[in-house]
Amino acid sequence: MEKKNIDWSNIGFGYVQTDKRYVANYKDGAWDKGALTDDPNIVMNECAGVLQYAQTCFEGLKAYTTEDGHIVTFRPDLNAERLMDSAARLEMPQLPKEQFIDAVDQVVKANAGYVPPYGSGATLYIRPYMFGINPVIGVKPADEYQFRMFCTPVGPYFKGGAKPITIRVSDFDRAAPHGTGHVKAGLNYAMSLHAIVDAHQQGYDENVYLDAATRTKIEETGGANIIFVTKDNKVVTPKSDSILPSITRRSLMYVAEHYLGLEVEQREVYLDEVKDFAECGLCGTAAVISPVGKIVDHGKEICFPSGMEEMGPVTKKLYETLTGIQMGRIEAPEGWIHRI
Ligand code: PLP
Ligand code: COI
Repeated sequence: MEKKNIDWSNIGFGYVQTDKRYVANYKDGAWDKGALTDDPNIVMNECAGVLQYAQTCFEGLKAYTTEDGHIVTFRPDLNAERLMDSAARLEMPQLPKEQFIDAVDQVVKANAGYVPPYGSGATLYIRPYMFGINPVIGVKPADEYQFRMFCTPVGPYFKGGAKPITIRVSDFDRAAPHGTGHVKAGLNYAMSLHAIVDAHQQGYDENVYLDAATRTKIEETGGANIIFVTKDNKVVTPKSDSILPSITRRSLMYVAEHYLGLEVEQREVYLDEVKDFAECGLCGTAAVISPVGKIVDHGKEICFPSGMEEMGPVTKKLYETLTGIQMGRIEAPEGWIHRI
C-alpha cells in the first residue's frame, strides 16, 4: 500500500484519523464477529454505562516497519491478556484473545499506508478499547458493550525524544491498595488529569506516584512504569500490586538479563533510596524508554549522574536492544514479534 504523505520524522504523539477501524459488539451474552468500518464516530445513548460510571478499559500497542520492510507488532498476545484482566476487574465481558489479535492484523493491514517507514523515528500506535454502551442508571455493569480499535501514527511521547526529562513526586495518589491500578481502566487516567495539568504548569514533564498507603515507595508515572539502574549496573524496578504490569518493562527486564547479562531485581523501591541510583527511565509502549534526568521531591532535586543531556549508558543499551528487536535488527525471543 502506498504510504501517506506525512512528515514522519516530525510528528508528535497525537491523533491522526486513519482510514479504517475495527468494531465488535457484545449483546445477549456474546460477541459478534466484528468488522472494519470507515466511521470514526460513535453514536450511543445518553445514559450509556461508559458515560455515567466510566465503565471502560483500553490497551496500547504499536506496529513497526522492520529493517527488511515487513510490518510487525510486538507481543500483541500480552495486550489481549491484559485487556481480559482489565475487563474482568470492571465486570465487562472478555474479548477472546484470537479475536483481539485478528483485529490488530485487520486494522494494521487496512491502514498500512499510515505505518511509518523504517528509520523515520515514528511508529503506528494502536488503541484497542471497550466500553459499556447500553443505558445504565443504577450503579451496575452494562449488559451491552462495544470493542473498538483504531490506529494513529505517532512520534515520541515526550517532546524532545531521547532527551532526559524531569518528573516530580506527586501529592496526588494514582491508585489505592486493592483498587484498579493494576488494570488499564480509563478511570485511572481520568483521575491523573489534574495532576498532569498541574505538573506541566509547574514545568515538569510527568508525575511519579508513591504508594497510597505509606507514601514512601515509588509506584510508577501516569503513563509508564519506571526502571532504575544502580551504580553497579543492576536494573531495578518497583514491585507493587497497584501498578500496571507494563509489557515494555517485562520485556526490558528479560532483555537486561538475557541479552545484556545484567542482574535484575523487581522489589519495593523506597523514595529515600532513589538518590543512590545512577540512571532512571520511564518505560511503556508510548514512552518506549524515556530517560529521566531529575526527580523533584517537593523542591528537593534528585539528579541522576547520567545528567540532562543524554541517556545513561545502561538505559541506552536497553533502548537499543529493545528497539533493535522490535525493528528486526536483533533476533527476538520466541513469540515476541508478530508479523502482519
Ligand atoms: N503504566 C501505565 C500507567 C501506562 O499507562 C502504561 C502504558 O500502557 C504503562 C505503564 C506501560 O505499559 P506497556 O509497556 O504495556 O505499554
Ligand atoms: C501506552 O503506552 O500505550 C499508554 O497507554 C500510555 C498512555 C499514557 C499514552
